[in-house]
Amino acid sequence: MSKITAQELRTKYLEFFKSKGHTIIPSASLVPSNDASVLFTTAGMHPLVPYLLGQQHPGGKRVTNVQKCIRTGDIDEVGDNIHLTFFEMLGNWSFGDYFKKEAIAWSFEFLTSPQWLGIPLKRLAITCFAGDNDAPKDEDSAEIWKSLGISESRISFLSKEKNWWIAGMTGPCGPDTEMHYWIDDGHPIPEKYDVNEPRWVEIWNDVFMQFEQHEDNSLTPLPKPNVDTGMGLERVLTVLNGRQSIYDTELFKPMWEVLALDQEILSNEEVKKARIILDHVRAAVFIVSDGVEPSNKDRGYVLRRLLRRAMVMGKLLNLKLHWLKALIGQVVAVYAPAYPELVAGSEKIFSVIEAEQAKFERTLEKGLKEFGNKYQAGGNNLSGTDAFDLYQTYGFPWELTQELAEQSGQKINRDEFEAEFKKHQELSRTASAGQFKGGLASHSEKIVRLHTATHLMNAALRQVLGEGVWQKGSNITEERTRFDFTHSQKMTDEEKRRVEELVNGWIARDLSVKKEILPLEEARKLNAIGVFGEKYADTVSVYTVFDPHSGEVVSREFCGGPHVENTGTIGKFKIQKEEASSAGVRRIKAIIE
Ligand code: ALA
Repeated sequence: MSKITAQELRTKYLEFFKSKGHTIIPSASLVPSNDASVLFTTAGMHPLVPYLLGQQHPGGKRVTNVQKCIRTGDIDEVGDNIHLTFFEMLGNWSFGDYFKKEAIAWSFEFLTSPQWLGIPLKRLAITCFAGDNDAPKDEDSAEIWKSLGISESRISFLSKEKNWWIAGMTGPCGPDTEMHYWIDDGHPIPEKYDVNEPRWVEIWNDVFMQFEQHEDNSLTPLPKPNVDTGMGLERVLTVLNGRQSIYDTELFKPMWEVLALDQEILSNEEVKKARIILDHVRAAVFIVSDGVEPSNKDRGYVLRRLLRRAMVMGKLLNLKLHWLKALIGQVVAVYAPAYPELVAGSEKIFSVIEAEQAKFERTLEKGLKEFGNKYQAGGNNLSGTDAFDLYQTYGFPWELTQELAEQSGQKINRDEFEAEFKKHQELSRTASAGQFKGGLASHSEKIVRLHTATHLMNAALRQVLGEGVWQKGSNITEERTRFDFTHSQKMTDEEKRRVEELVNGWIARDLSVKKEILPLEEARKLNAIGVFGEKYADTVSVYTVFDPHSGEVVSREFCGGPHVENTGTIGKFKIQKEEASSAGVRRIKAIIE
């Protein structure tokens, strides 16, 4: 039985901060209204940035809310115990009003008081900012925690990578203090917090926004210091109810039931597929509710990717045709008490998602039929070349073909698939090799190809790691490209593989590259990314990599060039090394073969 429900948690949080003089404000839309730098609202603070920078909020200097968020960088992690694309963030803000003392005291009271969450002190550990050239060690926060009863051994000081918050590259920022909960799985609770111990789960973050970071990375003090806090609703629900996974919480239970799926009797692989379905459809319902429709670019593309991936998983789990409709209905029902707009907009939500289902169903069906005829009934062995054909003709990702093959007891040769992939690239490279004859003057062909590959890598990093990735520098020689970018953690092997796969996928599609000279404002509106010079020119050169058939834009960057005209000429992209460059900045060295 749940010790606390989602609705109780939302209500308690808002009531608590109301009792401390905060105005309760509604969640803003998932589609940012005046910030072109992100596709979706990724944190509770996003819609509140103007007020953190000094504008007056109509609700006063203290506000609190539950904000809907989407983090697209986590799409491919979904299916494990903790990752979600859609989540709710509970937050309280001070716009130049209270600061560390009150913020920490209230966090402490809400977490530990029996009237509120009643978490025993022994389950809590705290991290604070260790200090660097930009700001001193946050002794103040540590002292406040100690005065409230947190023992010194449970307070750790960590670097900027962990205890500093900024949304993206510019804007309000500052040191933060994080609260971690020791999950209840029978293991004894250690004396000290250990950043590498997964049983310590971060549940809340109090950010002390004192600075504004500018394009040139300089920091200036804000007119008044602010507080921005964020508590992950699903995470808190999971740990307080003693669950191992977010998908075991009461929010997801009715969704498992409507699909007649039971985690207890599914294999690990099946559980993962089912969780992907639940997460992706839940996110899609909220995204459509905020006015987005599936398309081949930007938000629409993210929505399409979520839905199509869920549909592939539905097929692989043999769900019957109406599963999607039933699940949409259940998501709306689960969230209706907190988000009545889902009910009001349900007709549109059903029609948009079902239209996308009908559209994709035909391609998926055709591909699956061909697969069935040729390789299952026909008894033919599936070769790597066949897998490549399925990829080219029906857009079946390698992963899907491999899963289908495994289900019929076959193993496909990945090397053969890769070889075919490479052959295809070489063909398109030869076909357009003539383009290098003119216009490239002192630039060798290899450097030009590496240059375009670097733009694709930048776009892929932003898809895989999220929109917190920003280029910090790059250097290209005949041998390799070196690329520095903001990211706080070492990339996993899986993340590196996915970046390579995305880049090579775009290369294989032989996308077009075009150069345009645009007024700066227009280029900004098109969401071009990249490093600016210190002074902005009136007009800028922008390179766009796009699909000439669908119009889908894969990358758009401010850049002087030159670049290849078609990505098919680039060659096979490979990451050689990924390492730390400086605090919060990673460095990749990559080559083309
Ligand atoms: N903005 C902070 C976060 O999202 C609270 O973690």
